[in-house]
Amino acid sequence: MGWRDWIRDVEIEPSLYAADFLRLGEQIETLLGAGARLFHVDVGDGRFIPPVTIGPVVVQAVAPVVHRAGGRLDCHLMVVAPDSHFEQIKQAGGDSVTFHLEVCPDPEAAVAAARACGLGVGIAINPDTPIDVAAAAAGGVDLVLCMSVHPGYSGQAFVPGSLERVRGLRELLGAGQLIQVDGGVTADNVRAVREAGADLIVAGSAIFSHGDVAGTYGGLARAVA
Ligand code: DX5
Ligand code: ZN
Repeated sequence: MGWRDWIRDVEIEPSLYAADFLRLGEQIETLLGAGARLFHVDVGDGRFIPPVTIGPVVVQAVAPVVHRAGGRLDCHLMVVAPDSHFEQIKQAGGDSVTFHLEVCPDPEAAVAAARACGLGVGIAINPDTPIDVAAAAAGGVDLVLCMSVHPGYSGQAFVPGSLERVRGLRELLGAGQLIQVDGGVTADNVRAVREAGADLIVAGSAIFSHGDVAGTYGGLARAVA
């Protein structure tokens, strides 16, 4: 079982970073009920990105509920030395790790380390990293994450030029490789993101900053169906 089995053509992934943490379990159950199956977990260390965000203890708390419903936890590692966290994330119940090429001198070794832990694996690039850098390192990975904001916070505006980068990546990557887009996705641009070539579309504030998380998830999912 791997990423290809986890997705239904295209997936909207709620980013838990933007959730109401006082009601995290309830919001995840609501989203599962609305059809969400992939949840994006933004792990930040205060070094690669300024804030410390969430990590393995949150993964551990939510994993049983997500897995019982057939869902998966997709961990976006915005950290330096990402490979030092793989084992802990796997133990906590994470299903996949995506690490940033900007802080990984040996991506091939990191991919092998993630696979050895039994994790799915992705590579990520910031908006100012050339897409060829990702294409050159994409050999053995499941997905390439094209950031459409500078990583750090939910609720930022979609960086102009990101759609062109996704189109470019779609041309450079093999047909079997998934493209993930993360940051600044809204009801207004989600369809364009899909049409540019994204298979996995992360949405944080677009889902969680409104009272009706099921309704906003459903609206985004329908827009790309
Ligand atoms: C940004 C994170 C994103 C973020 C997305 O650093 O990697 O996953 O939570 O949030 P929105 O959709 O609000 O931009
Ligand atoms: Zn993210």
